[in-house]
Amino acid sequence: MGEKLAIEGGKKTVPDGIAKPWPIITQDDMDAVQEVLKRGVIWGPDAIEKTALEREWAEYCGVKYCIVTNSGTSAMHACVAGAGVETGDEVIVPAFTFWATAQAVLCQNAIPVFVDIDPVTYNIDPNKIEEKITDRTKAIIVVHAHGLPCDMDEINAIAEKHGLSVLEDAAHAHGSEYRERKAGNLGDMAMFSLNGTKNLPGGEGGFVTTNNPDFFEKARLTCMFGEKKVPKGNIRPYDAHTMGNNYRPVEMTCAFVRSQLRRLDEYNRLRIENVNYLTRELGKIKSIITPPEPGDRKNVYHIYRIKLDPAAAGYPNIDPEDFRWAVQSALFAEGVPVMEWHSFPVPGQKIFQNLDAYGRGCPWNCGHARKGIRYDAGDYPETQKMFAASFVLYTIYGSNGLDLMKYYVDAFHKVFGRLDEIVTNPKYYTRIRASA
Ligand SMILES: Cc1ncc(COP(=O)(O)O)c(C=O)c1O
Repeated sequence: MGEKLAIEGGKKTVPDGIAKPWPIITQDDMDAVQEVLKRGVIWGPDAIEKTALEREWAEYCGVKYCIVTNSGTSAMHACVAGAGVETGDEVIVPAFTFWATAQAVLCQNAIPVFVDIDPVTYNIDPNKIEEKITDRTKAIIVVHAHGLPCDMDEINAIAEKHGLSVLEDAAHAHGSEYRERKAGNLGDMAMFSLNGTKNLPGGEGGFVTTNNPDFFEKARLTCMFGEKKVPKGNIRPYDAHTMGNNYRPVEMTCAFVRSQLRRLDEYNRLRIENVNYLTRELGKIKSIITPPEPGDRKNVYHIYRIKLDPAAAGYPNIDPEDFRWAVQSALFAEGVPVMEWHSFPVPGQKIFQNLDAYGRGCPWNCGHARKGIRYDAGDYPETQKMFAASFVLYTIYGSNGLDLMKYYVDAFHKVFGRLDEIVTNPKYYTRIRASA
């Protein structure tokens, strides 16, 4: 009969404390930060580490320009502003993303227009973009969700046909590739996040990348108080040309990220090794749908998403969300840190339901926006279905190896070997963490 499930009081499969944290911080990282402190220059628009990191990341992505920022959220805003998005313009955004993607559009007083995802890739569905384009549309933001690049050829062709810019949210995609080109170089402009969870971690921080000198200059203004760059030796005139923020990073972060960047490819390789093992082993359980692996792109797996098919497990009449909660809770109790990464489409968030970003209903009723825009989470059924039927795993990152993945696979086999005990019991149709 095998061992009792941990959620039912049995022994956990995965021993406590064996999953290591992310990021991996080495002596080199510490020396790099200490070097900055010894140098005594801890900030500056043209400071040594910032300038070097901009050059190195531009080289890594194969683009002409890079700006380091103090967050991915600020980098996303700089992209939207850089592409010339203005009050009342519309920008296409996938319904499945972190809301910072849409927030960047609102920061320009512009209007996010959401598009549902492809049920296989979980990325924006290119076949659903054109029906959302109006005479106000200015740009399409694509999000390489969890590290898998979007269908860029199709999306770039739509953008070209309608005269739109394509902006990449590559927050999850440091080192991802589409047809041998790196994320960050797949559209007109891109952003990355350097938040501590990311494949290239910096604590907080971000990048803007582009080949377009005008977009670069406008993005730079957004990051630097709206002021133009002063040629070396000239006096700063303190003269803002446009809205701008202080989106600059500090030198300690830049030095740390430069040091981490030297190991990015190796850490991505380790993630992919972990994921390949999981995908091979979990793929043997017929109700588990592992992430797709299109042959023309490289996924760097910031997050590993696992989808469940109750019918394939022999439970065609159980609601997929009930089934998923039961399995997720049982796995969690076994010591597999499976979790949600968001739970409903971004247009379902309060700000879109209330149609109010700045007070008084702005930007939707500021006079420049198209009238009658409304948001309903139910308009994005594929995003909803994905959330209902799936959960994610973060600990595939490169601090962990196949020893941990093997424990995970054992836990999946244990739970899927005793499914009847949990999926037919309504007490497990909700998040259960207590026993973990
Ligand atoms: C898809 C996506 N876009 C944008 C961001 C914002 O980045 P940051 O947290 O660095 O501001 C995140 C952050 O997790 C994200 O996941």
